[in-house]
Amino acid sequence: MRNDFLWGGAVAAHQLEGAWNVDGKGPSIADMMTAAKHGVERQITEGVQPGQYYPNHHGIDFYHQYPTDIKLMAEMGFKTFRTSIAWSRIFPKGDETEPNEAGLAFYDRLFAECLKYGIQPMITLSHFEMPYHLIEAYGGWRNRKLIGFFLHYSETVFKRYQHQVNYWMTFNEINNQTDYTKAFFMATNSGLLLKPDDPEAEALMLQAAHYELVASALAVKLGHQINPEFKIGNMINMTPIYPLTAKPQDILAAQQAMQTRYWFADVQTLGEYPSYMEAYFKRHNYRPDITTADREALVAGTVDYIGLSYYNSFTIQADELPTHFIGEAETIPNPYLKASDWGWSVDPTGLRYSLNWLNDHYHKPLMIVENGLGAVDQVTADDQIHDEYRIAYLRAHIQAMQAAIDLDGVDVMGYTPWGCIDLISAGTGQMSKRYGFIYVDQDDQGHGSLRRLKKDSFYWYQRVIATNGQKL
Ligand code: BG6
Repeated sequence: MRNDFLWGGAVAAHQLEGAWNVDGKGPSIADMMTAAKHGVERQITEGVQPGQYYPNHHGIDFYHQYPTDIKLMAEMGFKTFRTSIAWSRIFPKGDETEPNEAGLAFYDRLFAECLKYGIQPMITLSHFEMPYHLIEAYGGWRNRKLIGFFLHYSETVFKRYQHQVNYWMTFNEINNQTDYTKAFFMATNSGLLLKPDDPEAEALMLQAAHYELVASALAVKLGHQINPEFKIGNMINMTPIYPLTAKPQDILAAQQAMQTRYWFADVQTLGEYPSYMEAYFKRHNYRPDITTADREALVAGTVDYIGLSYYNSFTIQADELPTHFIGEAETIPNPYLKASDWGWSVDPTGLRYSLNWLNDHYHKPLMIVENGLGAVDQVTADDQIHDEYRIAYLRAHIQAMQAAIDLDGVDVMGYTPWGCIDLISAGTGQMSKRYGFIYVDQDDQGHGSLRRLKKDSFYWYQRVIATNGQKL
């Protein structure tokens, strides 16, 4: 393990800040998402509807309570804290010329608080929280104009925080939208509000994704111009797809499924579309608007590192695929793996596999910016939370990461487990799907004192960091 290894934790603005309409913040796509539960998708309403419950509106009130929370993270020994800037705090509608000073001032205060303890902020520019106005007025990322709005926002925050923030990422889990039949992914990645059976969904996704990839590349270039010391990464959801058997058709299907999900990383890391994507466009007669200037931008804006989330793995079988792999609905349970209460397979070995896969393909430093177990926690009468299941999950994944580093020679910059403080689940809107080392007293209806408690995993992670991963 390198001595400057970035141990820390990760969150996203919309899942914990709350204060959704405070100090000039405009509504974002996350403010239109209702609460749901395992197996029930969150609805994305047209505007804020009376009588609906929107958990992201209050989050865990981090907007006001961040000094206490950052102090707790410092107590664990965090070297870095990954969060996002809520785009609509800075540009409430997204298409303004002038930023909202009160929004900028909030992040001045937050980053100063982190730096006070020697914690480096690591910032995602867009984490499922684009200004809602950009969806209503422009149709989201299907519109090329979004590139300009995103760049203006990026330039504003790069300049403002160039002395506070060194590590950046462009779009969170940009590749979720390969599963274009899921309304949630299309909305959160690209602001595309579509019916699940929209026949244009795939074409729209490819177009929107292209504009995001161009915007990402232009932002990388711009960031480096503003401060050459910046390290700017992409961020992909890494869920490796295994073949169920050694049958050659299964092997090929899994390889093609991996291509379907990871071509985004090729574009962002290698600066061009892989040949199988160019062939796919031709075969399906897709003619996305990709200009020569776009292609030049992609080459000029390759990332410094790859940020990845890793939670689980998928398994597929060629015979079970309707035509080709799209997303989770085509996966089948892996007989060798157990699953979490939310049905996510638990597969630490898959993390070592993933790190090697990414290293083999891209030869760039890797940063694990999300990993963790969503689980229900019980608070004892004396305010203890004995979350040994979470410790076991994280320990096994850190061991897998260490094997990739020490035995396979993979360059991993750091590890920031997801939801280091309990927050609103992105997928379900629940509070009860907890990932944190810090417990937050709030239920799925938003009731609770919001007081913070240290779980057993808090003390465990503190020791892990203090020993640079030696004492697990
Ligand atoms: C990732 C996201 O998909 O996984 C996070 O980047 C999200 O925003 C995390 O919270 C865990 O997913 P969930 O649905 O359990 O919150």
